[in-house]
Amino acid sequence: MKILVLHGPNLNLLGVREPGIYGTDTLEAINRLLVDLAQELGCTITITQSNHEGVLVDAIQGALGVADGILINPAAYTHTSVAIRDALAAVGLPTVEVHLSNIHRREQFRSHSFIAPVVAGQVSGFGRESYLLGLRALFSLIEKRLSVEPGCGT
Ligand code: DQA
Repeated sequence: MKILVLHGPNLNLLGVREPGIYGTDTLEAINRLLVDLAQELGCTITITQSNHEGVLVDAIQGALGVADGILINPAAYTHTSVAIRDALAAVGLPTVEVHLSNIHRREQFRSHSFIAPVVAGQVSGFGRESYLLGLRALFSLIEKRLSVEPGCGT
């Protein structure tokens, strides 16, 4: 099983960026935890971070026929990007949206996600645990699908 992990804009600054909101873990540290968990679960992950909407759209399109699912923190693009939403809808891969902070208890504009309606679910508010919970949820979702569609995605 192959999973694409996507981190959106400004997440490369984790560790120094508003630590009171996003915590003190660096993106590298979160990625290491994800790789360890993927190993434990028995799946392979490919990780990309970009500050550019088009790069994220290209990565989502590139996952078609390559990855079995997508774990994405679209960061600020959550609240603005029809292009990322359309790309996720177009490839139709099982996807889980994650956020370090609870986007529903912050500024009003953050409570709207363009992404949520086209993904399987959202994990928001648990810091780095959001990513780990999201990966576990995505893994079991894909596992269930693979068990009813033998031969797919292996
Ligand atoms: C975020 C929440 C977004 O509102 C914000 O723009 C981010 C990070 C989070 O992980 O909590 O950049 O996605």
